Amino acid sequence: MAGTDRSQIEEQHSYRQAIGQFATGVAVVTAQSPAGPVGMTANALCSLSLDPLLLLVCIDNSARTLAPIRERRRFAVNVLRREQRPLAEAFASKQSKPEHFEATPWRLHQDVPVLVQALAWLVCDLRELHPGGDHTIGVGAVTDMEHDADGEPLVWYRGGYVELGA
Ligand SMILES: Cc1cc2nc3c(=O)[nH]c(=O)nc-3n(C[C@H](O)[C@H](O)[C@H](O)COP(=O)(O)O)c2cc1C
Repeated sequence: MAGTDRSQIEEQHSYRQAIGQFATGVAVVTAQSPAGPVGMTANALCSLSLDPLLLLVCIDNSARTLAPIRERRRFAVNVLRREQRPLAEAFASKQSKPEHFEATPWRLHQDVPVLVQALAWLVCDLRELHPGGDHTIGVGAVTDMEHDADGEPLVWYRGGYVELGA
């Protein structure tokens, strides 16, 4: 981390620990690129508005998924099931993305790749991009969605994957 001194590193560590007490679900944010589908694991996302239907997702400025979202102005949030931890790990890696899409059924829906076995998916039009430090905040207007009311979510808590009730 160029330009980051020791006290900053300690503060960032404390911040990770403090914010890590906030349990979240885990999603794969997907988009279509000229080379095919791309996606990245994300938990910095939340519901923003009901009228209109808006959600937001925070994307690292160095994430490769950001450019296709910016260019196509479409993306999807695929909420992962408890059983889909391997997908979360794969989409968090910097390996080639087409291989990850070979490992799970997906289809283009409204020009966006959706993971059909996800616990829920929400397809969005990109409304706005806002700078947010080393991340970019993407605001999406939800244009279609599906969910499975019976499945269980994958949960991220204190820097690791956990199961509900564990
Ligand atoms: C549980 C978990 C949650 C994550 N949440 C985010 C997030 O909200 N935003 C983000 O930019 N990166 C997040 N990441 C890191 C990205 O998944 C990772 O940097 C990924 O390699 C980016 O892929 P890309 O460069 O192909 O877009 C998360 C990783 C994990 C394991």
